[in-house]
Amino acid sequence: MNFAIIGCGRISKNHIDALLLNYNMCKLVSVCDIIESRAIERKNQYEEKVNEIVNVYSNYKEMLEKENIECVSILTESGYHAKIALDCLNAGKHILIEKPMAMTVEDADKINELAKEKCLKVGVCHQNRFNPPIQKLRRALEEGRFGKIINVTARILWTRDQNYYNQAPWRGTKELDGGTLMNQCIHNIDLLQWMVGSEIERVYCEKDTFLRNIKMEDFGAMLIRFKNKTIGIVEGSACVYPKNLEETLSLFGEKGTVVIGGLAVNKIQTWDFADKREYDDIDDSSDVDNVYGKGHTPLYKDFIDAVNDNREPYINGQEGRKALNIILTAYKQSEDNYEGSTNI
Ligand SMILES: NC(=O)c1ccc[n+]([C@@H]2O[C@H](COP(=O)([O-])OP(=O)(O)OC[C@H]3O[C@@H](n4cnc5c(N)ncnc54)[C@H](O)[C@@H]3O)[C@@H](O)[C@H]2O)c1
Repeated sequence: MNFAIIGCGRISKNHIDALLLNYNMCKLVSVCDIIESRAIERKNQYEEKVNEIVNVYSNYKEMLEKENIECVSILTESGYHAKIALDCLNAGKHILIEKPMAMTVEDADKINELAKEKCLKVGVCHQNRFNPPIQKLRRALEEGRFGKIINVTARILWTRDQNYYNQAPWRGTKELDGGTLMNQCIHNIDLLQWMVGSEIERVYCEKDTFLRNIKMEDFGAMLIRFKNKTIGIVEGSACVYPKNLEETLSLFGEKGTVVIGGLAVNKIQTWDFADKREYDDIDDSSDVDNVYGKGHTPLYKDFIDAVNDNREPYINGQEGRKALNIILTAYKQSEDNYEGSTNI
């Protein structure tokens, strides 16, 4: 299956690694970035490992016209995802979009509707769903081992210093990125809502900009009431001193408690159930070098299988819409209370 990449910045390296690790199933045909040197870097990363030529473009529309591509990975600034996604779908390509899939629910809906109309697949990069401890937790949940679920907590206690924001001025802006809830916390909010498996009733959010010189929040807290009565709690920070501390998901049920932590929800910290199963003692914890984890590789494999088998990807556009909707609802709810950038 022939892939192209649009947007060759920070996360694109992980996508090239994932394509290389799925080399038996796919091939990278071309890369595009408006900053050509970045596209060349990614071309070199791929060509160093396999004996293929990757073509470089700075105009994605030209690339879509000229290249024989079936799937496009969209890895630009978040605020450009929707426009590029719609252009790719109109050009007849399946799309894999980095998170968040769009910056508004209306745009997410447009992407999903157009993909349906054109019979094309949309995948969204919430790669942590593939973390082995998360898969193990999902299994226990699907087997009904928690009984009634009371609360689910997502903590994202990371550091993003001013340099991180200065390196790419789109970060922390309303139009292209959002604040820490949208950028850093969306993965764990996705896991939280996926485990609860219910629509939201209401959301309460407090957020502010404490330390960084950005327009959106560098700390946010949310309380979510789901229609099935479960309560979700989110604590998201880009301000932890002096370095990334943890990304943790905790589920508290009538008959089970699970806490998965580590740097990026990759280590089982608590696993307690009223009943016993043979897989309980298998420790699926793994070490990760960075907070992106290792999930892009299985995510690509699933996406390629979904296209081949004409089924929905594990994390499709409807799934990608859910965490986005929760965060946008929280932003809207907190607008009246939020002063913004009070400490700069
Ligand atoms: N899944 C994850 O864990 C994860 C991690 C980091 C970033 N992300 C997401 O990935 C996306 C990119 O983040 P990043 O940190 O790599 O950003 P970045 O700023 O490093 O890279 C974005 C690149 O897109 C390019 N670009 C912009 N418009 C373009 C266009 N029209 N055509 C071609 N290229 C274009 C820019 O020149 C830039 O090189 C964001 O949506 C971000 O939220 C996801």
